[in-house]
Amino acid sequence: MDDALLTQVEAAESDLRTAAAARLAASTFDEVIAADQKIEPRDAMPEAYRKTLIRQIAQHAHSEIIGMQPEGNWISRAPSLKRKAILLAKVQDEAGHGLYLYAAAETLGVSRADLVDALLDGRQKYSSIFNYPTLTWADVGAIGWLVDGAAIVNQVPLCRCSYGPYARAMIRVCKEESFHQRQGYEILHTLAHGTEAQHAMAQDALDRWWYPSLAMFGPPDADSTHSERSMAWKIKRFSNDELRQRFVDMCVGQAEILGLRIPDDGLRWNEQRGAYDFTAPDYAELMRVIKGDGPCNRQRIEHRRRAHAEGAWVREAAEAYARKHATATVAA
Ligand SMILES: [Fe+2]
Ligand SMILES: [Fe+2]
Repeated sequence: MDDALLTQVEAAESDLRTAAAARLAASTFDEVIAADQKIEPRDAMPEAYRKTLIRQIAQHAHSEIIGMQPEGNWISRAPSLKRKAILLAKVQDEAGHGLYLYAAAETLGVSRADLVDALLDGRQKYSSIFNYPTLTWADVGAIGWLVDGAAIVNQVPLCRCSYGPYARAMIRVCKEESFHQRQGYEILHTLAHGTEAQHAMAQDALDRWWYPSLAMFGPPDADSTHSERSMAWKIKRFSNDELRQRFVDMCVGQAEILGLRIPDDGLRWNEQRGAYDFTAPDYAELMRVIKGDGPCNRQRIEHRRRAHAEGAWVREAAEAYARKHATATVAA
């Protein structure tokens, strides 16, 4: 695990406090952005900024919730009680991340119920990575190491995002993601240093998850539709390709310690660039999976719909309780 990332999260957190204390009164949106201050829910903001954030935060929230499925699939089959407890805690964290993020989106004037509907009827997307199946226990390790690892690399810069509620949610999320990455890495480390069959299982998981993880950073910069404006608004701080490079550079040394081989014959240190050259993921495959044609798209959304329907009584009970409580408060 890269401790530098956690240090960056802590620096962002302390800068956030400093910025809040120094907040100028009556500044315009552009002044706030230029001064690296945070936009808060009551501030005036361009409609396109608000819409961009809703789309991004909602997609992020949906990814956390759908992302519980591939690993949830292994909770009942974890190889020991300890592994089961750790995995259960990790999957619950993801539910929590979804909730912080829906709450952050709600500060922009949308309702969580509407966002959930948009996910369930396909108007909003979630990360394409969760449309791949978890075939073996080693996949749970590979997801923690690579998928949560890629998520951290993506999310650490979001701790400095210009929208206050999103930035603050990201600080907490990143701290938890770092635990997720470590637990995945530890699972793979144990397997990779176990029997020959366990080592092979770990290698097979890395072989299958490597390129989909690289694709998590999105299309290459040349084809990325939302990037430029998001950069100007300081929602996004680094381009897709910059983040992808950062992720590859981080993984190479970690794979060496695992004793596993990254499945890329083109992977080599480039002295001039001070970074690794690597083979890009198959972006045509990424687009296919985003459009709904990945190995598990249908299964994931069907499962989510069923879970949502089965949870209707919980929502009704919570609403009835809230009504009763409100009436009791008024009466008192
Ligand atoms: Fe998460
Ligand atoms: Fe995670």
